Amino acid sequence: MEVYKSCPEAFIVAERDNKVVGYIMCRLEFGFSDLRRFRMVRKGHVVSVAVLPDFRRRGIGRELVVSAMKALELHGGEECFLEVRTANDEAVKLYKDMGFDTVRTVSHYYHDGADAFLMSVRLPYAAPIGGAL
Ligand SMILES: CC(C)(COP(=O)(O)OP(=O)(O)OC[C@H]1O[C@@H](n2cnc3c(N)ncnc32)[C@H](O)[C@@H]1OP(=O)(O)O)[C@@H](O)C(=O)NCCC(=O)NCCS
Repeated sequence: MEVYKSCPEAFIVAERDNKVVGYIMCRLEFGFSDLRRFRMVRKGHVVSVAVLPDFRRRGIGRELVVSAMKALELHGGEECFLEVRTANDEAVKLYKDMGFDTVRTVSHYYHDGADAFLMSVRLPYAAPIGGAL
């Protein structure tokens, strides 16, 4: 809520019956490409995404990620990347199905010592054949 109050434009929310059931938070960064060697790019960072348990498996998570990528693209993003717990099978599957590549494993990325996969996809987003939207 603290970040939302200072930077509401970083969020996209999903609503059902006027209730927020999911959100995604992103920011644009500038740095080395995760997909093309030695290239500096503007890249969108998905910092956080979640859907309430009762509303999962309805396509909301996927829709939030696609909406965020479209917004990042409008702001000049050339890639979109995120970190995800290596044990988070559901989320890893979602991103893989959407065409994200696993770039590397980041050891001890989380406070509890868990590792993360850094996953990335090029923008503008083109869903894989038979994939998302
Ligand atoms: C990850 C998360 C955002 C997905 O949201 P969602 O609304 O359930 O996702 P979708 O309905 O759009 O699912 C899209 C695809 O993801 C995969 N997926 C999602 N949940 C899954 C599950 N429980 N088991 C297997 N695959 C799953 C499937 O490929 C699914 O497509 P399908 O339903 O056609 O098989 C949600 O599970 C969540 O909030 N998890 C807790 C927070 C979290 O882990 N966030 C990610 C941090 S990087």
